[in-house]
Order: sequence, then structure tokens, then C-alpha cells
Amino acid sequence: MERLKEARERIRAARRVAVLTGAGISAPSGIPTFRDPGGLWKNFRLEDYATPEGFKKNPEEVWRWYAWRYKKIREAKPNPAHHLLAELEREKGEGFLLVTQNIDGLHQRAGSERVVELHGSIHRARCTVCDFRTELPAPEKLENHLQPKCPMCGALLRPDVVWFGEYLPPGALEMAQTAFASAEVAMVVGTSAVVEPAASLGRLAKHAGAYLIEVNPENTPLTLLADLALREGAVEGLARLLR
Ligand code: APR
Repeated sequence: MERLKEARERIRAARRVAVLTGAGISAPSGIPTFRDPGGLWKNFRLEDYATPEGFKKNPEEVWRWYAWRYKKIREAKPNPAHHLLAELEREKGEGFLLVTQNIDGLHQRAGSERVVELHGSIHRARCTVCDFRTELPAPEKLENHLQPKCPMCGALLRPDVVWFGEYLPPGALEMAQTAFASAEVAMVVGTSAVVEPAASLGRLAKHAGAYLIEVNPENTPLTLLADLALREGAVEGLARLLR
């Protein structure tokens, strides 16, 4: 396949590479995605579990849901796709940035360091009032204490993740946009590309002249724009691109 050869060559030669990942890259690690058949939003109302209003209405139930996800994530392991991206970072160094919508921390566990977590991290909690932040306790402990309070001000703690209608962590989007606007190669892996502002990063790179690669078993709004759309899973697709 000529275009695969060209894509491999462009990645090899590129000094600046930007990668965006979504839940699909963690699917092979056994972590459910959101919008696939069987995905989280097929079984849970996102209004109840991923909005400030939902948390306000029933903080204990939202904490129970995050404690359940956190337990699964702690038991999961990075898969070869995570490792291949950590390897690419080691090759490219300063010119590489990995932007993820995932909150599972599997990229970091695979060795990635140049990571921007656009939607926060399930491994952290933050205070609903002051700026206190902390790592989550072990899931078992959390499950027995589903309304953790801030040790500084006594207010309720919440997962340190971005819910619908909330702002992204300060600086995260700017770093992501700068990387995608200056990338020679942009790769979008395992995202349905429907949630903004992450969904626009691929388009931003393409319009700035980047060579755009998508890896996803399904079509997305980005597929037609991509220079190369590998209609396969992240493990297989990244192995063909990067091995
Ligand atoms: N490899 C690559 N892609 C895969 C794989 C796989 N093995 N399995 C599924 N996919 C693709 C699906 O085809 C789908 O396009 O991963 C994508 C997952 O899409 P979503 O479930 O919508 O997840 P994501 O795009 O990360 O959602 C974005 O929405 O709910 C919010 O904050 C949440 O960060 C999340 C955001």
C-alpha cells in the first residue's frame, strides 16, 4: 500500500509530531469506550455522571461510578499501542507531544512523559471550593468513603476530571493547539472526534499543512480529511505505521 509507505516515511523524517488519543486506544486494555456498542454512555446517562449538575445532585453515586472505573483502570495494563507511542516520543524528543482525552493514565504508565491530559485524570481528586488536589486513595478505601472531604477546608472533593460544560485545565488546550498547528505529522488515534475542542485538533493540523493520519476501525468526521485513514485498531495500525 503506497500510502502506508509514504506515511511511514513522513513519520520517520518528521521533527515535529503531534498525537491525539481517545478511549479507543485503551479499549485493547479492557477499558470501555464511551460511544461504541456497550460503551459507557450506552449504559449510563452522561448527564448524571459527567456533568457538574449530576455531581451536585448525587455526589455519592458519581463517586461510586468513578471508584468503579478507577478500580478497573488500576487493574488494566498499557497495551502495545501505548508502548509504541512512548517509543515514538523517545525517538522524536522535544518535537513530540501526546495529547490525550483519556483520564486513565495508561500513556504515562507505558513511559510517555510529554503528555497533555485535556480532560484531567481519574487518579486525582480536587476540592470543590479551594485549590487543594490529591492522588486518589486505593479503590477499596475510596469505595468505603464515597464522599471524601477536603482536609484544608472541609468541602466535598470531586474527581479531577473535566465534565461536559466545564473548562479544560488552564494551558492544556493552548499547548495542544500549538503542537498541532506546527506539526509536520499529526496522528489521531481511537477517538470518535465529536467532542470539542479536542475534535478540532486534527483539522487545525491539516489546515496548517500537516500530514494527517487517523487510526480507527470506524469512520469519523475526520476520516475524509486524513491523508491516510487506517481502518483498524490502534495496536495493529500503530504497529504498521511505527514498527
Ligand atoms: N483502536 C482504535 N480505535 C478504537 C478501538 C481500537 N481498538 N476500539 C474502538 N475504537 C474507536 C471507536 O471506533 C470510536 O471512534 O475509538 C473511538 C471511541 O470513541 P468514544 O467512545 O467517543 O471516545 P472518545 O472519542 O475518547 O470520547 C471523547 O467524550 O465522553 C467524553 O470525556 C469523554 O474523553 C471522552 C470524550
